[in-house]
Amino acid sequence: MLKGKHFLKLLDFTPDEIGYLLNLAAELKDQKKKGISHRLCEGKSIALIFEKDSTRTRCAFEVAGADLGMHPVYLGPSGSQIGKKESIADTARVLGRMFDGIEYRGFGQELVEELAKHAGVPVWNGLTNEFHPTQILADFLTIKEHFGDLKGKKLVYMGDARYNMGNSLMVGCAKMGMHFVACAPKKYFPNDDLIVACQTIAEKTGAILEFIEDPMTATKDAHVIYTDVWVSMGEPKEVWEERIKDLTPYRVTKALMDNAGEQCRFMHCLPAFHDLKTTVGRDIYEKFGIDCMEVTNEVFESEKSIVFDEAENRMHTIKAVMAATL
Ligand code: CP
Ligand code: NVA
Repeated sequence: MLKGKHFLKLLDFTPDEIGYLLNLAAELKDQKKKGISHRLCEGKSIALIFEKDSTRTRCAFEVAGADLGMHPVYLGPSGSQIGKKESIADTARVLGRMFDGIEYRGFGQELVEELAKHAGVPVWNGLTNEFHPTQILADFLTIKEHFGDLKGKKLVYMGDARYNMGNSLMVGCAKMGMHFVACAPKKYFPNDDLIVACQTIAEKTGAILEFIEDPMTATKDAHVIYTDVWVSMGEPKEVWEERIKDLTPYRVTKALMDNAGEQCRFMHCLPAFHDLKTTVGRDIYEKFGIDCMEVTNEVFESEKSIVFDEAENRMHTIKAVMAATL
């Protein structure tokens, strides 16, 4: 069904194709748990390009690749010629001659699109500033596991909804007929063109898209409250002060979870600033005196938090993307 296709953003996929990838991921997860071998891509090789840091995405591609019988090669932010002495188009044409598929994590979406244009093999987006599509597959598999279905489920995204996570969740929810709410000050809502594109999709799928500034109104009856870091990779550190000021009222707290109701679960793509056990977390504490950012430690560590199921599902869903497209 998806053989030879790139995986660059969810806008390029139909609801049926997304549903197919989620079902395939569930099947592969079941096989992995039962110890059933599934070396569906035996003998192939994949290149994993990371221009930004990663724990989950890199490990998911490496482990999933090995489970499928493949040889993954990691190319980090330094050590290769990419970008410095060789353009994306030339890199794509070289790697496309050696590898069967290429993962790319970097800055602008246009870079991964350019790579895909020239590679001649499937290219998978491992995160750009604009989109993080493999994360959404993991999120949706997790929601299906906890709630049985996606259709009609209300997901409230708290925080900077203009960036990769807010954008991709909005697209995913529109595609799958869900109820998406971006909750933030207006200037952090997704851009108008993307909202219009998603509203057009929503007309067909029955999805509801809302943009609400008041956290209590937004989170009422939510199935999922979702958040992400307030400052993303690649953004200058000067923006911290403004983000903290603007987004502190949008921190996910127990009061917000209680307001949503008993059914509500907490999700986060991770990594998360919920305590002082990171260097950035401690730095921010020293400068601004806050001991958590987008989520309190209480919510993060609570029974309502399903963030580690979500993290595990990165591997099963990325495996499905590779198995389907190779
Ligand atoms: N969620 C996510 O993409 O995590 P990493 O940055 O660790 O890959
Ligand atoms: N918005 C975050 C997502 C990390 C998975 C970032 O781009 O840094």
